[in-house]
Amino acid sequence: MANNSHNPLNSASDESPNGNRQRLLEIQAQTANGSANTKARAETEPPRPALPPLLAASGLCKSFGGIAAVDNAEIQVAQGSITGLIGPNGAGKTTLFNLLSNFISPDRGRIIFDGEPIQSLPPHQIAQRGMVRTFQVARVLSRLSVMENMLLAAQKQTGENFWSVWWQAQQIQREERQLREQATAILESIGLAHMASAYAGALSGGQRKLLEMGRALMAQPKLILLDEPAAGVNPTLIKEICDRIITWNREGLSFLIIEHNMDVIMSLCDRVWVLAEGRNLAVGTPEEIQNNPQVLEAYLGQ
Ligand SMILES: Nc1ncnc2c1ncn2[C@@H]1O[C@H](COP(=O)(O)OP(=O)(O)OP(=O)(O)O)[C@@H](O)[C@H]1O
Ligand SMILES: [Mg+2]
Repeated sequence: MANNSHNPLNSASDESPNGNRQRLLEIQAQTANGSANTKARAETEPPRPALPPLLAASGLCKSFGGIAAVDNAEIQVAQGSITGLIGPNGAGKTTLFNLLSNFISPDRGRIIFDGEPIQSLPPHQIAQRGMVRTFQVARVLSRLSVMENMLLAAQKQTGENFWSVWWQAQQIQREERQLREQATAILESIGLAHMASAYAGALSGGQRKLLEMGRALMAQPKLILLDEPAAGVNPTLIKEICDRIITWNREGLSFLIIEHNMDVIMSLCDRVWVLAEGRNLAVGTPEEIQNNPQVLEAYLGQ
């Protein structure tokens, strides 16, 4: 365990002009806590056999008007893990998510998900294979109810096919009933069941983030990419979101989480990747990352 008083960056960071100073302090303040999730697992679970990564991307590049937002980046998410992705503002984290989910095509690079290359698949097919993402600014359909938002997020509904509407009416009714049950169970687990008939537009910022996660779960994914799930969310709800993530993870779901809130990253993640100026800067356990001088410098250098 590191001793903050011996960290040469402590005094140099006092004049940092923006929120990255606060983030640095948060990184360092976590030293005593370690990764609660990792520790809890280590105490209660036997070691896992080595499996190929669930997600492995390498050589990813994306430029906007000659500026490299993502520059030869790599990332891996182990099966069953909660993996963190951090870096200063503008480091390329959201762009990396956009490339992984093919909302933006990479200029170059390779992405393997669940043993198959996915870089040429459209986003909805990637979602059908089990990788779904949420957005930095939650995207919910404000004029639809919370329940309707959930139902629309389900994958592979028979009723989506024109002919099946005619020939499989019973099947469709059965599926819709099952989907409603699934949606109700998820809404209960995220504390939004009482809002099922309310317009999604009436939800608070934090509740929208929860609804986005609920929508992601409707696709019955293997991996969820969360872009800043705690941003703009009050501390009580952040705790609830973290508890949910840990529960879902114990049920087998893997996560890749972008977050500036270091409490969240340090308490949830098994492994943390750091991006700076579009490039990989470091990867390691939360404890290794919070004591990595290059990482601290990248946060201070803004
Ligand atoms: N569609 C776009 N067109 C032009 N430039 C873009 C586009 N998307 C991102 N960028 C630029 O790419 C760089 C990386 O942006 P990105 O949003 O990926 O950073 P980030 O790490 O998610 O930052 P933050 O922590 O602030 O969300 C920035 O310089 C940004 O201005
Ligand atoms: Mg971002």
